[in-house]
Amino acid sequence: MDILLSTSVWDPKEWIEGLDISDQVGEIHAWPTDKDLSNVEALFVWKPLAEGVVKRLPKLKWISSLGAGVDHLVTDPQIPKNIPITRIVDPNLTADMANYVMMGVIMYQRRFLELQENQQKKHWERLAYKKLKVGVMGLGVLGGHLAKQLYSAGFEVAGYSRTQKQIEGVTCYDENHLNAFLSELDVLVNLLPITPKTVGMLNYDLLRKTPKGCYLINVARGNHLVDNDLLKLLDENHLSGALLDVFHQEPLPREHPFWTHEKVMVTPHVASVTSPESALNLLKENLQRLIDGKELLHQVDKEIGY
Ligand code: NAP
Ligand code: GLV
Repeated sequence: MDILLSTSVWDPKEWIEGLDISDQVGEIHAWPTDKDLSNVEALFVWKPLAEGVVKRLPKLKWISSLGAGVDHLVTDPQIPKNIPITRIVDPNLTADMANYVMMGVIMYQRRFLELQENQQKKHWERLAYKKLKVGVMGLGVLGGHLAKQLYSAGFEVAGYSRTQKQIEGVTCYDENHLNAFLSELDVLVNLLPITPKTVGMLNYDLLRKTPKGCYLINVARGNHLVDNDLLKLLDENHLSGALLDVFHQEPLPREHPFWTHEKVMVTPHVASVTSPESALNLLKENLQRLIDGKELLHQVDKEIGY
């Protein structure tokens, strides 16, 4: 069996060395390549997949995203419906996401940017801070862990997901109770996947349902957010600010108003980055499962889209 790796982000070498686990693994190719790909059974992708790749893989049996998100794969028309798609679920990815969001929440709560400005002015002032209620949209692998961490750190926590969840210390709402979830939040964190239902979900109507002064953290995908609606709500002083890690277009174009908006913090899609060393454990486990004819771990449900 051959493997094909398609990634514009990582040096394929790191992955290729780590994947050579079995005498049943033949060649490991990196896209783009002119070589014969007719023996490729596993395709690992971070993103997007070039048009026409799948046509060159007549024996393809499995596709894995090299990240937690699969939006670049579930909507790709060249991928046949019967090919399972898996994604990365990895303890380091999960911990990194919680740490990033906790950093954002705590910086906001403790007014860190104001403290920094005061330092520039050599101004000594002990700024007051209050207890916050944080709402997490998406209680999956990342959002569920984040909600628990926030609760352990002493925050009041609410969570929102498609189906009802039970998480100790977290007031959980299902998709029929969005307004109740939004109504008392100081901070709204988005950790939903992109699906036809969630694209554009962070729009004026939804964000306006949060209490005045709410702070937004978007770490899921840029196309959850309607950028102009956020700008409007910031200008109207309904939202107090936003920490954004993901964008419609990445890198964020230099002329985009988010770069210079005084109430917006921008980071370059770094909230939680797959580490090949760590993610290879799962890929190798799934590779062995493929070889043994066993069910693959962390498969995407193509019907619901994540
Ligand atoms: P996941 O385990 O699939 O969890 C998704 C959660 O969203 C589930 O709780 C699901 O509800 C909920 N959900 C889906 N559709 C919904 C809807 N229409 N209404 C309400 N809730 C809905 O995903 P994950 O691993 O936590 O990852 C979440 C996303 O984070 C990824 O898709 C990716 O886009 C993003 N991400 C970003 C970075 C970064 O560096 N910025 C890194 C990694 C991942 P149910 O549980 O009821 O199904
Ligand atoms: C990163 O955005 C991921 O989906 O892993």
